[in-house]
Amino acid sequence: MLDPFAGAGTTGLIAEQMGRDATLIELNADYAEMARVRLASTS
Ligand SMILES: C[S@@+](CC[C@H](N)C(=O)[O-])C[C@H]1O[C@@H](n2cnc3c(N)ncnc32)[C@H](O)[C@@H]1O
Repeated sequence: MLDPFAGAGTTGLIAEQMGRDATLIELNADYAEMARVRLASTS
């Protein structure tokens, strides 16, 4: 999956649940960090 407007990374979390790879792009550094933390906590 590709989410070029990733926000807090929900697409990445769902991709992981579905066993899919995901590439996330996010402009806002604070949201990007939030996505990193959320994804790290589930893997
Ligand atoms: C509505 S949110 C995305 C929600 C996300 N898809 C989800 O499912 O949780 C839109 C995001 O796009 C980001 N954004 C806006 N313009 C952008 C750009 N040119 N490149 C990357 N990210 C961008 C904003 O910072 C914002 O976090």
